[in-house]
Amino acid sequence: MTRNMSRVPDSLGDAVRTSELLVTCGPGGVGKTTTAAALGVAAALAGRRVVVVTVDPARRLADALGLEEGAAADEPHRVDDIPDLGDGPDDGELWALMLDAASTFDRLVHEQTTGEQQARAILDNPVYQAISRSLAGAHEYMAIERLHQLHTSGEWDLVIVDTPPSRHAIDLLEAPDRLVGFLSHPVYRTLTMGQRAFAKVTNAAATMFLWAVRRLAGPQIVEDTVEFFRSLANIEPGLRHRAEEVSVLLRDDVSSFVVVSSPRAEAIGESEHLVGALRDGGFPFGGVVVNLIHPMPEPLAAKDRAVLEDLDDGPLADHVAWHDELSQLATAEREELAALADLAEDVPVVELPLLAVDVHDVEGLVDLADLLVGRG
Ligand SMILES: Nc1ncnc2c1ncn2[C@@H]1O[C@H](COP(=O)(O)OP(=O)(O)OP(=O)(O)O)[C@@H](O)[C@H]1O
Ligand SMILES: [Mg+2]
Repeated sequence: MTRNMSRVPDSLGDAVRTSELLVTCGPGGVGKTTTAAALGVAAALAGRRVVVVTVDPARRLADALGLEEGAAADEPHRVDDIPDLGDGPDDGELWALMLDAASTFDRLVHEQTTGEQQARAILDNPVYQAISRSLAGAHEYMAIERLHQLHTSGEWDLVIVDTPPSRHAIDLLEAPDRLVGFLSHPVYRTLTMGQRAFAKVTNAAATMFLWAVRRLAGPQIVEDTVEFFRSLANIEPGLRHRAEEVSVLLRDDVSSFVVVSSPRAEAIGESEHLVGALRDGGFPFGGVVVNLIHPMPEPLAAKDRAVLEDLDDGPLADHVAWHDELSQLATAEREELAALADLAEDVPVVELPLLAVDVHDVEGLVDLADLLVGRG
């Protein structure tokens, strides 16, 4: 197992002040998007110019960040009215955008081609349209492609990237290496040869591939597919170079991965898996956020308990039963948490309580930001 030897931040506050790239990842529904936004608020309050790339934010959070559907939400929008954040030249700024995989892919094609005609040959191809909009893995790759675009633009002190749930997060980490692998694959190499060379070659794998596509989807798709891969050949060196750059950037010391989990056993299991993948892949692991922790209720005094246990059925008895259930749940969560803290070893672990209301406005994000980085 290759251990990542890069610098580990002492706290999430440290990561927020010094990293150039922060990636939140973890199981589904644990608060990755919320944490990404709250870390963005914390960074802005620390005086940095930060952009948060969100994936499918909950409707009300999107509204709070000024991300209305459709309205160029995949371009950075400035988030106004953050309490305690001034608007002087030395004050931080929070910007947000919603990741749109298809338009990121289109942007990449425009950037890698030399003219509109070459770009259109790819963009108008039905196979390209299907791949860029639905292929498993394309979405993950585009998330980090966008991250790279924003990081290299030089406009931001910090880029924070939210990710889809954990199984996909691993895909995301491996996406650049997979793209390089794909471009080197014999099927791909054969498909992208010139027409005449292609006719001469009897590459069994490529023939099988085309035969399968023809059977499944008909001859037109075969032509479109071959045409697509040929048109891609022009931009292949650019794509390969870009994927290699992204792969290096994700492992650089300026990047930091924050694993978000809940204290539930299955979420912790997934988080453990993810932490292993981060360490094995040599990605800088910067911290763990355990969100949605139930508060531990005050224990009942022994004499009260003696009285309460003899209660007849009724609201008070229900309340005692609820109190006991909550105590058991909170205790079980703390046991699960201990396992995660062990796993984290030397990286900071921050616990966030389950709040009474959803985090859906900027004030809620400021509260979470304070809990995350211990401001004030
Ligand atoms: N500490 C908290 N207390 C109360 N509600 C919270 C807390 N953290 C997040 N939430 C709420 O939980 C819901 C899910 O949060 P969020 O969308 O950030 O999760 P996610 O991990 O990004 O989900 P997905 O895997 O679907 O992308 C949201 O409605 C959010 O407001
Ligand atoms: Mg999310």
